[in-house]
Amino acid sequence: EKRNFTIAGNWKMNTTLNEAVDLVNKIRSGAADFGRVETIVCPPFISLSKVKELLEGTSIQLGAQDVFYEEKGAFTGEISPGMLSSLCRYVIIGHSERRTYFHETDDVVNRKVKAAIRHGLKPIMCVGENLDEKDAGATESIINRQISLGLSGIESADLLIAYEPIWAIGTGRAATSAYANQVMNYIRELLCKILHTGKALRIPLLYGGSVNAENITDLLSQNDIDGALVGGASLKPDQFLSIIRQAN
Ligand code: G3H
Repeated sequence: EKRNFTIAGNWKMNTTLNEAVDLVNKIRSGAADFGRVETIVCPPFISLSKVKELLEGTSIQLGAQDVFYEEKGAFTGEISPGMLSSLCRYVIIGHSERRTYFHETDDVVNRKVKAAIRHGLKPIMCVGENLDEKDAGATESIINRQISLGLSGIESADLLIAYEPIWAIGTGRAATSAYANQVMNYIRELLCKILHTGKALRIPLLYGGSVNAENITDLLSQNDIDGALVGGASLKPDQFLSIIRQAN
């Protein structure tokens, strides 16, 4: 039986408002072929409202790239889950770039995931080891820590997990599908221990890190890979559309 895959595009800090309109129009023009693929685009905050308008009547879903955990108040520059919940369905949380450049800890990630779920947003919680950790054979212990702490106190299965090995992000060197599947199988088993098995099996596991139109089919052929979180290739409409078609 064929599974339904999820393909999410993380635009990161790219696109002005005009560029976002142009990009989403190009992606939208291919939307008739999307079939059963849950397609998500995650533009910068400033474009969410406009992109939401442009996606009305399509099956493409909208996501934000981050969210703060407080409800409102004196947190200059931050965006609350309540502000996002009327705009989009998904939110990326704990991306390695946020952990590295903005010093987000597992505790911060956990607060954000909880706040997002409380407001009906679906978190795409990102985890993954860096090259030193991989070389030291510490991948599973890093993943264990990030998942256990990130999901601490959470019973909902209304979320997705993105496994993104840091050494594969933006490098053009994706993990082999076998390696990714091995780690993602570990994640699946971990989720079965943390949540009830039935719930754990419902959580889509996305692979991220140099996904492109050439490697997507191989990645999706693996048992524990339910989709992809795509960075660079999601900014190229032809690439992104090809990835979605291959996932269909
Ligand atoms: O969120 C997306 C990932 O960081 C992957 O980025 O596809 O450019 O390697 P990339």
